[in-house]
Amino acid sequence: MSSNNKKPKASVIFIFGGSGDLNQRKLTPALYNLFIDEWMPDNFAIIGLGRTKYSDEKFREHLSEGIQQFSRRKEKNGIWKDFSQRIAYMQMDAGDESAYKGIAERVKEYEKEWNTNPNVIFYLAVAPQLVPDIAKKLATVQLCGDTQTTRIVVEKPFGHDLKSAKELNALLGSLFAEDQIYRIDHYLGKETVQNILALRFANALFEPIWNRNYIDHVQITVAETVGVEDRGGYYEQSGALRDMVQNHILQLLCMVAMEPPVNFQANEIRNKKVAVLNAIRKFTREEVRNYAVRGQYSEGWIKGKKVKGYRQEEKVDKNSNVETFAAAKFYIDNWRWHRIPFYVRTGKFMHQKTSVINIQFRPAPHYAFPAEAAETWRPNRLTISIQPDMDIRLSFQAKRPGQSMTLNPVDMIFSYKDAYPEDHEPEAYETLLLDVMEGNPAQFMRADQVEAAWEVVMPIIETWEQRPPMGFPNYAPDSWGPEDAEALIARDGHNWITLPHKSE
Ligand code: BG6
Repeated sequence: MSSNNKKPKASVIFIFGGSGDLNQRKLTPALYNLFIDEWMPDNFAIIGLGRTKYSDEKFREHLSEGIQQFSRRKEKNGIWKDFSQRIAYMQMDAGDESAYKGIAERVKEYEKEWNTNPNVIFYLAVAPQLVPDIAKKLATVQLCGDTQTTRIVVEKPFGHDLKSAKELNALLGSLFAEDQIYRIDHYLGKETVQNILALRFANALFEPIWNRNYIDHVQITVAETVGVEDRGGYYEQSGALRDMVQNHILQLLCMVAMEPPVNFQANEIRNKKVAVLNAIRKFTREEVRNYAVRGQYSEGWIKGKKVKGYRQEEKVDKNSNVETFAAAKFYIDNWRWHRIPFYVRTGKFMHQKTSVINIQFRPAPHYAFPAEAAETWRPNRLTISIQPDMDIRLSFQAKRPGQSMTLNPVDMIFSYKDAYPEDHEPEAYETLLLDVMEGNPAQFMRADQVEAAWEVVMPIIETWEQRPPMGFPNYAPDSWGPEDAEALIARDGHNWITLPHKSE
């Protein structure tokens, strides 16, 4: 491995909730992979903070199990040993103000040892209700006054609704500079999501047709084959709209719909995204039923295995009205997207795991072929598969070989696997943690972005909360959600696009 000279500067990373799931599954594996790829600074330390009792050694063992289970690369050639020497654990009660002195002392020790002023990163991998208190206490630690080197990373959910998001933003804004606050949406770290910017803005080909004149509609599907698993308690407070639409799906929509940025400065990209969110038409309460659909899974079968209905899941109310599926139709009121529907849907226990964006182009203006030529004729479509398949395909009509004039849709495909057989894409958390160390907030949510996204979904949330759903549970596991979701799009003469899976 050649030595990487673009490494970030020395960093101390404190992980609140260090003994929790997110650290074991995602954060430490991400940092470990960055270490293998020589992206970690020459001097770094990772300190887990939590109430559980651990010695440094036991904590490292706990994380090592996570590497074996969840990391894209496992322990090999003693690299883990080398890496894990930089991991430590501090048992502390995040509510105890005096414990925060220990943090400042730790940082001083590293400063002395490394003879440099390191980045200090506080990653809040904790339940959302703990965030305000930890942030307030952190702000009393003097080193947080250094807005250049100290950063705070906040996980979703960022607020529960517009009001609470505003309150949280106001609080964090009173304690830290906006540049210090990194609000994570892990979808923005996905390689295939970042590539949407490359596709749109590094190629001259697409821009002239990327508008209402050539595009008929856009579909965004983020479907999961898992149910709520052991997160019933969290999900009861959330539901599909808050869990997936307010953040991940609206961010994907912004990437598709944003205007070309003038440069790649963080605020330029974020300004362009906020402009999209602000332009999304807000429904009135009366309109919600025409624009949004909710669903909840019943008990049923998945691949021959019996699964529980949502209301039977642990920590879920037996009469819960929380949605595990949401679909909506949005309009973006600007010149580029005038009258072009953006259909989005997401759900648990869907038939297929897939995150995919379909750009459906308009039909050819004049159709010169004999009718029988085109039994399978269909308009052009650009499909951006984010996961688990990772490819971009453009489908167009071709003449089927033979003496008769028969037209068939065919695909022109860019597949990551084929184009880059040697490269393994980093996990989203790798990219985002590196960005935090480098001090690059472009792929993180700015305060106004979060609020603008809440403004889009608030009419739906409020209407759904006031009007109990009819006929919940209303879809079976291993399906594509409730019938109403089909009706939502069929009313406009369209269908949800589902593609055969290649990676299965
Ligand atoms: C999280 C949601 O933000 O994203 C989960 O809270 C969901 O409910 C997950 O399962 C999906 O992420 P990914 O990367 O697996 O698509």
